[in-house]
Amino acid sequence: MIYLDHAATSWPKPPAVGAAMTDFLERAGGNPGRSGHRLSIAAGRTVYDVRETLAEFFGITDPLRVAFTLNATHGLNTAIQGLLQPGQRVVTSGMEHNAVMRPLREMEKRGVKVDVVSADTHGTLSPAAFAAALEGGARLVVLNHASNVSGTIAPVKEIAVLAHAAGALLLLDAAQTAGVLPIDVTQMGIDLLAFTGHKGLQGPPGTGGLILADFFDSAQLDPLVHGGTGSRSEYEIQPDDLPDRYESGTPNGVGIAGLGAGLNWLQQRGLDALRAHELELSARLREGLGNIEGLRLYGPGDPGLSTAVISFTLAGRRVSEIGYRLDDEYGILCRVGLHCAPAAHRSLGTFPEGTVRLAPGPLTTLDEIDTVIRAVARIAAA
Ligand SMILES: Cc1ncc(COP(=O)(O)O)c(C=O)c1O
Repeated sequence: MIYLDHAATSWPKPPAVGAAMTDFLERAGGNPGRSGHRLSIAAGRTVYDVRETLAEFFGITDPLRVAFTLNATHGLNTAIQGLLQPGQRVVTSGMEHNAVMRPLREMEKRGVKVDVVSADTHGTLSPAAFAAALEGGARLVVLNHASNVSGTIAPVKEIAVLAHAAGALLLLDAAQTAGVLPIDVTQMGIDLLAFTGHKGLQGPPGTGGLILADFFDSAQLDPLVHGGTGSRSEYEIQPDDLPDRYESGTPNGVGIAGLGAGLNWLQQRGLDALRAHELELSARLREGLGNIEGLRLYGPGDPGLSTAVISFTLAGRRVSEIGYRLDDEYGILCRVGLHCAPAAHRSLGTFPEGTVRLAPGPLTTLDEIDTVIRAVARIAAA
């Protein structure tokens, strides 16, 4: 089996991830931050340690500004629904996932104005187009760091400067890039960053978070969920303290322990080395697939401008047939269709059929890539 669906979720996880989860259950199974006994304290310690590692990893100084969520979708909803008021304006891109578009369309129903800046057919966004869209001012810019369809990387720093000059905040969707590309929230000018734990960070499903920049004033962001936090229990009103303001209910301590182990694994390997490996894989894949007659590749031709997420179509062939045959005849696992991102497919010109998406990961080998190229070539020929 060759697993090329890392953009959906990474697999296999480093063995240390499962071990840390078992250890949490067996050794530190209390409810973190609730009781005063040793199991609760041990659980709280694990959760705090991972919070601290994440804060450092994403370039903020205060670990309490890492709010754990279920996934990126939950973090994005917390930010979008917590910030926007009727009558305000949001600017977003034509490369967004439905984790952004659906909450934005919901806010549109509640009186928020949503403007979408188009991408070109490679998924590339122009800062000049954002500058023009921001001329009228906005409350928020929501941006996908890298497309889950074409891998195209957005010019985050430039757009952050433009957003701030227009008086807008920047919310970055880092679902595809956390653990893949370096992200420094402070240096890049990101006010809010939503990440998921189960993709590039190598953690288990059910983990993710919303990072609040050190310079972001949390009074602006209402919580999405209200409830018990283990703190200030004398009040029936949600506390303002961080991260409790955004973390009601028992956290996924088991998952967070696994996420911490995934992050440690990443840091031991080194983000630069992993990126170099992914660049090598995607260059080989793009080159090999590019030689197949009738095959069209999407995204920027230069692998340096994208993550290792490669989408293609074959003239006259259904993407569902290609995906089925890759799995059934060759044991190659990928994802076909619209990838929860109809807006991105409209930009690339692949709506409504979608594409075949190949997304290698840290353990994918060049031999596997060659096998995949041969398999696609055979399918294209017959
Ligand atoms: C660009 C992008 N944003 C958001 C998400 C949502 O991530 P999650 O399902 O972990 O909430 C994904 C997941 O595929 C994604 O690729």
